[in-house]
Amino acid sequence: MKDSACVYLVGTGPGDPDLLTVKALRLLQSADVVIYDRLVNKAILQQVPAGVLKIFVGKATSNHAFSQDETNRLMVKLADKKRTIVRLKGGDPFIFGRGGEEALYLAQRDIPFEIVPGITAATAAATYAGIPLTHRGLVQSVQFITGHGRNNKPLDFDWQKLADPQTTLVVYMGLATIGEISKQLIVAGLPADMPVAAIENGSTARQQRLLTTLKDVPKDVKLYGLQPPVLFVIGRVVGLAESLDWFITDDLDSCEGEQDKHAQG
Ligand SMILES: C[S@@+](CC[C@H](N)C(=O)[O-])C[C@H]1O[C@@H](n2cnc3c(N)ncnc32)[C@H](O)[C@@H]1O
Repeated sequence: MKDSACVYLVGTGPGDPDLLTVKALRLLQSADVVIYDRLVNKAILQQVPAGVLKIFVGKATSNHAFSQDETNRLMVKLADKKRTIVRLKGGDPFIFGRGGEEALYLAQRDIPFEIVPGITAATAAATYAGIPLTHRGLVQSVQFITGHGRNNKPLDFDWQKLADPQTTLVVYMGLATIGEISKQLIVAGLPADMPVAAIENGSTARQQRLLTTLKDVPKDVKLYGLQPPVLFVIGRVVGLAESLDWFITDDLDSCEGEQDKHAQG
């Protein structure tokens, strides 16, 4: 048993276990207890040695879901027992991941903690969909927004600021509100034919990439029945996606798969 506890808030990336950082993997393999939620891929949990306690705090379909407060209290309780606690978070803990709230809770109680960044969905899903978030001559900046209104209230953005054709707009948690987002951006002046990508399960073998326009995205999302997790990328850079379509979900057809085939003779 160690002398003092430490809680590690660890980003696991967007799904592809190969995108786990070396530090995240090392911590997973040396944890006393692992706390995880719904967005953490099962293949990543398989890296936890047998016998290590794994606690699920996500929303199960019908069973009890841990509230944020209960998860916070659980971390403190475990830390009282002087353990290495690894709290896994999908993507990056500090990007729409409540990592800041959890770290503040620990800081206020003098519990030692460390934060391990992960690859956020915007970077991973866009890259695996063949979309560079910035591209010289096309856009000059990127904005990340959440489409989930606080306490399910209507979205409260400065739409004029968001409707900038020189910026790539990335929308997390926007599946339920993409209709409103599309309408408001068009009213604020973004062209209705601005390219949009909706990426479901980005970076995984189940990735689906829908390429459409700002006007048609609400209709197309329903037509193709996209399911969470979905990330939206809105902007000129989406126009590069057809030319940069590198990710093949069938591994054997990918560059790495080809190399494996040759290696096997
Ligand atoms: C609660 S936020 C967590 C974000 C996470 N902390 C991150 O940095 O990626 C969940 C949202 O992230 C996006 N997301 C996470 N993983 C994704 C994936 N593999 N493909 C597409 N979107 C994803 C979706 O918009 C989803 O609704």
